[in-house]
Amino acid sequence: MYDLSNKTALITGAGQSVGLGIAQQFARSGAHILINDIVSERAQSVANALCAEGKSATALAFDVADADQVKHALNGTKVDILVNNVGNAGSIPMEQTRFIDLSLDTIRQVINSNLYGVIHCTQAVLPGMCDRGFGRVICIGSEAGRQGLSIGVSPYGAAKAAIANLVRHVALEVAASNVTCNTVSLGLMNNVPAEFTDAVLSSIPLGRLGTPDDAASMCLLLASDSGSWITGQEFVVNGGSSVRG
Ligand SMILES: NC(=O)c1ccc[n+]([C@@H]2O[C@H](COP(=O)([O-])OP(=O)(O)OC[C@H]3O[C@@H](n4cnc5c(N)ncnc54)[C@H](O)[C@@H]3O)[C@@H](O)[C@H]2O)c1
Repeated sequence: MYDLSNKTALITGAGQSVGLGIAQQFARSGAHILINDIVSERAQSVANALCAEGKSATALAFDVADADQVKHALNGTKVDILVNNVGNAGSIPMEQTRFIDLSLDTIRQVINSNLYGVIHCTQAVLPGMCDRGFGRVICIGSEAGRQGLSIGVSPYGAAKAAIANLVRHVALEVAASNVTCNTVSLGLMNNVPAEFTDAVLSSIPLGRLGTPDDAASMCLLLASDSGSWITGQEFVVNGGSSVRG
């Protein structure tokens, strides 16, 4: 059992799916959870549900892609653990389009949600973490950031690859302040519609799609004292699927 008591954890995009699972496991481990989502009703209902279970949670609705909103929402807030979970196409469904057919606006939007969201939130909390001499930053990556896929998600893959390398650099810059920074890259999760997953299910050695709890378990290890000598790394949680390299 990992102990996160006396820690405040901000989980972005925690209104549903993977982020919700991370928030639930962190809350059960004793952390106070700041539930971020761009959809304020989602953030509020998750915070209410956790509080009803006797856990400690506060809703904090803002758009991670908007630097001013992030600054305003996090100004003066003590965050010990940040999980940069927001991803995919942001607040709209992921549209799969070949690179040559993508508009620059769409590319910018995907990069904004996936990469700039991480940059904004991480920059907002790192100074406080460094001053206090403790911090954990965990970014959620994807197989799409580790290999080429012909499914029309190239800007998303580019952003996820950039995050994993941003983490390697930032981790070294803040290590002396006892702040760790890692990426947890996920394989295909169980919230993806069956029409996309049926064909690839048989290629997952462990025979099933990932769950929010699978992602949360790795994040919890990295956030806890047990993860105190782990930094600058990318951990792949994908049921054993083989990928490039
Ligand atoms: N689902 C998968 O198969 C899969 C696979 C690999 C990696 N991932 C990664 O896991 C993470 C979580 O994915 P998911 O499938 O749980 O996502 P999801 O789309 O189910 O949920 C994301 C949540 O984030 C919120 N959100 C979106 N844009 C936001 C913004 N700009 N600011 C604040 N909140 C915002 C949404 O309202 C939503 O509640 C993402 O980083 C994703 O890239 C997912």
